[in-house]
Amino acid sequence: MKKQLVFATNNKHKMEEVGDILGDNFQLLSLKEINCTENIPETAYTLEGNALLKARYVFQKYGYDCFADDTGLEVFALNNAPGVYSARYAGKSKDPKANMQKVLKELANKSDYSARFRTVIALIIQGKEYMFEGTVQGKLIREERGIAGFGYDPIFVPEGYTQTFAEMGTEIKNIISHRAEAVNKLKQFLL
Ligand code: IMP
Repeated sequence: MKKQLVFATNNKHKMEEVGDILGDNFQLLSLKEINCTENIPETAYTLEGNALLKARYVFQKYGYDCFADDTGLEVFALNNAPGVYSARYAGKSKDPKANMQKVLKELANKSDYSARFRTVIALIIQGKEYMFEGTVQGKLIREERGIAGFGYDPIFVPEGYTQTFAEMGTEIKNIISHRAEAVNKLKQFLL
């Protein structure tokens, strides 16, 4: 029998990507599918804190085994900013172009452009909490290249590659990405 698990998101693209990695052994339910329509607060100061907030909210209020993720871009020369604030770095509108411009502005007089994406997944099974992490190292570039993906993809070149995430396309990105690594660790644990 398939194991039922809530993924605390309503992002269709994420559901598909994560569902593909987890495979047929699991039946993933979105927040909508468990009738959770409220905005779950993401008020923590770390990726770990926010992932846990979301997973605990679902487990405590709805009683489902559940996992939640949170991701950030961590830029070495900016003391790991924007980090947990990646989505809203340039303001509430969560505009990816403005976010990229702000990071590049902050980096204007720095020489080290190394950065990484980091994903944290918090899992709650029968009340017990577990954490999984995935990272991809790389560097930022000053001009946007490519149209695939989302967020900071046009200015992020992963280590060992010459193309940005937005140039290489989601097929390769989804194999080498921070999210893929974290979800694969989750899968190994659950199987
Ligand atoms: P979330 O926790 O997955 O919603 O990610 C928070 C923010 O981090 C997003 O709004 C993006 O700005 C950024 N981000 C997360 N994952 C990626 C990625 O794979 N590529 C580029 N930006 C990302």
